[in-house]
Amino acid sequence: MATNEFISTNFSTLGLTKTSFTCKAPSNIALVKYWGKEKDQIPKNTSISFTLSACFTVTTLVISENKNPNNFEVEVIFEGKKNEDFKPKISAFLERIITYCPYLKNYKLQIDTRNSFPHSSGIASSASGFAAIAHCIMQLEKQLNPNITTKHFIKKASFLARLGSGSASRSLEGEVVVWGNHPEIEGSSDLFGIKFPYKIHDNFKNYHDTILLVDKDEKQVSSTIGHSLMQNHPFAKQRFVQANENSTAIKNILQSGDLKEFINIVESEALILHATMMTSNPYFILMKPNTLKIINKIWAFRKTTNLPICFTLDAGANVHILFPEKDKIKINEFITKQLIQYCQNNSYICDRIGLGTK
Ligand code: PMV
Repeated sequence: MATNEFISTNFSTLGLTKTSFTCKAPSNIALVKYWGKEKDQIPKNTSISFTLSACFTVTTLVISENKNPNNFEVEVIFEGKKNEDFKPKISAFLERIITYCPYLKNYKLQIDTRNSFPHSSGIASSASGFAAIAHCIMQLEKQLNPNITTKHFIKKASFLARLGSGSASRSLEGEVVVWGNHPEIEGSSDLFGIKFPYKIHDNFKNYHDTILLVDKDEKQVSSTIGHSLMQNHPFAKQRFVQANENSTAIKNILQSGDLKEFINIVESEALILHATMMTSNPYFILMKPNTLKIINKIWAFRKTTNLPICFTLDAGANVHILFPEKDKIKINEFITKQLIQYCQNNSYICDRIGLGTK
């Protein structure tokens, strides 16, 4: 695969005027799920996501001179405090990207990061977190080589983010991002995410994602383990074919605005993701009783009102409720009156489709 275009060779420290770079990067929610990968987050299938807006990470990268470039130095500050827990993951990420960003060796790095959502909310911060770090690194690269184009900047930021966490490659741009090579989606690649290259129907403008925080504890099974269990999964082959078919379907739905079909694919993808967890070896369940209660309530409400409300799930118990702007009053009322009782401490986050990094 053509990764050479991402190796930075042409850089000069002469023009360096800034030593601090900040980025605000959003989280994203997959409509078609990424679950199963090769080495270095090369996905087994295409995934398509809505970029979010209210759930984000703000990261500042501060650089200072490193007198010993053989010794890579990084300090991590999380929510105002020095943090040793995230350091191994960030150090491993930096080691992975050093071939592409060799200039990093010249600096001591301080990564100061905070999330808009509580750390213990069950919302993964790896997508927004790695997208933000990757964007900061690209801001530094742009200082060292002002000739890089905006297009290359975003593409490489997504490429680098992917090497931190696969889904992070989908958090650089909005409002819809495709990651993973797909023969029917122009420009799609396994190496980086791209902005959905077709016109999106107005039905999806300002689309809402209300996240019900059912279980805020750390997951019992990490997504790294979940991905690896797809290696010898009895249904893996069929799953990857199906995800690519669902990507074609979502591609068409996003253009036609067919909400009934949207609901069908999105809910099916969420349940398939969890079905693969329940059928892997060892098997596991990340949904909680309240996850199922919420799903059943949504189905009953949809049946009686005919409103286009649907759910999706991440690798966890929390439920993302997706709905169009025009139905927000009735649906918000339903959520507050009937669903938040199933959330831990009644907590939920009102989010919606967003535009990407700032
Ligand atoms: O980026 P990772 O390795 O945390 O994997 C994310 C996997 C899902 O959130 C379950 C699905 C997806 O496509 O975001």
